[in-house]
Amino acid sequence: MSSTAEAPQDVIPARLLQGQKALVTGANSGIGKATALGLGRAGADVVVNYVAHREAAEEVAEQIASFGVRSAAYEADVSKEEQVVAMTDRMVEEFGTIDILVANAGLQRDARFTEMTLAQWQKVLDVNLTGQFLCAREATKEFRRRGVVPKVSRSAGKIVCMSSVHQLIPWSGHVNYASSKGGVHMMMQTLAQELAPEKIRVNAVAPGAIKTPINHDAWATPEAREDLLRLIPYDRIGDPEDIAHAVVALASDLMDYVVGTTLYVDGGMTLFPGFATGG
Ligand code: BGC
Repeated sequence: MSSTAEAPQDVIPARLLQGQKALVTGANSGIGKATALGLGRAGADVVVNYVAHREAAEEVAEQIASFGVRSAAYEADVSKEEQVVAMTDRMVEEFGTIDILVANAGLQRDARFTEMTLAQWQKVLDVNLTGQFLCAREATKEFRRRGVVPKVSRSAGKIVCMSSVHQLIPWSGHVNYASSKGGVHMMMQTLAQELAPEKIRVNAVAPGAIKTPINHDAWATPEAREDLLRLIPYDRIGDPEDIAHAVVALASDLMDYVVGTTLYVDGGMTLFPGFATGG
């Protein structure tokens, strides 16, 4: 069967990120929501960014606030420069600074290659890649302005880019998405190289198949689930909390010497499972 019991909720050390301010884009559902909640459980104050479904974002913020930290929902389309600038300015004004950016917002617009419209190509690149570029740029300006505050963190700021196993695994029928994540990979490494001397750590988390609305069709029926599990040596579909745990750890000083790395959180999907018996 795909999943085990509920993912454990109490494994996050409650003060790991105390005093830090985190911005999570696309945090009203799926991986972004679980990550925002995880950062809150770890003691960070959290801004929950959303572009649609305000009520869902506000509910996430309320849930985070129930952990005894501060949280608010901010609307912004990450692919729009002026909206990103307004969002980060507002966060600095209302929360004081930004310590952690989780550049998570992303989407799929799948189509076979010759049926893919320019609009589908562009939308995915705009949100998944340009959105991360804009958010990372604005967060970096704030990291640089503030610098290191030793009692808060050893670094001046952390960026965690949400990538995918498809930064590595080609994905037929999803050329826009795979290209966007390939771009995220190189953007992350280049930013990590450029910003490390300023004590800004840039890393990525690359999820495999995680049970969220984005890939509903891939796990919703028993047949689909069986097909999907053939690609996952660890034999379970991931839960959003699996990703949240990785992001919390990467953003914390436990990982202070981790710079420019992609942490694959994929149950072994990138291990070429077809070769377990073939080849
Ligand atoms: C995609 C999912 C897919 C998973 C594994 C993710 O990046 O968003 O739709 O199930 O990769 O292929």
